[in-house]
Amino acid sequence: MVVCHCRAVSDCKVRQAIEAGAGDVEAIARQCGAGMACGGCRPALAMLLSDLGLERFSVDGDARPAASASRATV
Ligand code: FES
Repeated sequence: MVVCHCRAVSDCKVRQAIEAGAGDVEAIARQCGAGMACGGCRPALAMLLSDLGLERFSVDGDARPAASASRATV
């Protein structure tokens, strides 16, 4: 399914970016281009991050930690 229509980026590509280490919407944008044009898909990108338990920043990329966010570092 296409998530970012401006850049024709699928949810699979976004998930690959997240699995490769993209931990916020800005990082996803840098890795696969989604969210780099109109920004209309950024809420969907944030939702994909949330689905994977990685939502740490706001849609706008503000460094605002989410209350439930954590990434275990051992
Ligand atoms: S829909 Fe993704 S930047 Fe426009």
